[in-house]
Amino acid sequence: MDVQVIPQNDIEFLKQDNILGSGGFGVVVKVKYDGDIVALKRTKFNATVANQNAKLRQEAEKMSRLNHPRIVRFHGLAVCDGLVHIMMEYMEAGSLHQYLHEHASDPISCDQMWMFASDIAMGIKYLHSKNAFHQDLKAANVLLTIVDGVPRAKLSDFGLTGMLNFSEPNPCRLDLHFD
Ligand SMILES: Nc1ncnc2c1ncn2[C@@H]1O[C@H](COP(=O)(O)OP(=O)(O)OP(=O)(O)O)[C@@H](O)[C@H]1O
Ligand SMILES: [Mg+2]
Repeated sequence: MDVQVIPQNDIEFLKQDNILGSGGFGVVVKVKYDGDIVALKRTKFNATVANQNAKLRQEAEKMSRLNHPRIVRFHGLAVCDGLVHIMMEYMEAGSLHQYLHEHASDPISCDQMWMFASDIAMGIKYLHSKNAFHQDLKAANVLLTIVDGVPRAKLSDFGLTGMLNFSEPNPCRLDLHFD
């Protein structure tokens, strides 16, 4: 399956309320693409369209093939202002980490805890069935969406995202060419 490389000009950057959060590696913003709201995560990696990077291509292809209700959908890569960005499904209810902090003094029901645990387990089971491994499972990488008034969890930041996230003072150059 081909990996979509989305041109910056096709992305509509919102003027207000566009910051979803930030991690150790950069900001995640809400943008519009092809009529939908999606999340765009900046990585530290420079991109050129001159050559190929086999490992990046392989990981991106693997992520494109993953499709499961408990996995945050990977839409493709974008190059914005010379940096590689990851475009993914927008999860409107934030992360499990935020949720747990917001509910620190307000107990979470057993049913809700079971729901989160089972969502996470289903996501991991699916990844393993596809020979993919999370490698950075933590509450900040479990994102939430509301279904019938109930928060449901999906796994994020595995595979390519993890690979592009690792911390290096002088990140290497990634060369993108996916046609
Ligand atoms: N797809 C998404 N939809 C909605 N919000 C998101 C999405 N991805 C990330 N976020 C928000 O952005 C925040 C930062 O995410 P990010 O993955 O950059 O950092 P982190 O997981 O907290 O730490 P790390 O630096 O280890 O990745 C998350 O806590 C979440 O609130
Ligand atoms: Mg994360």
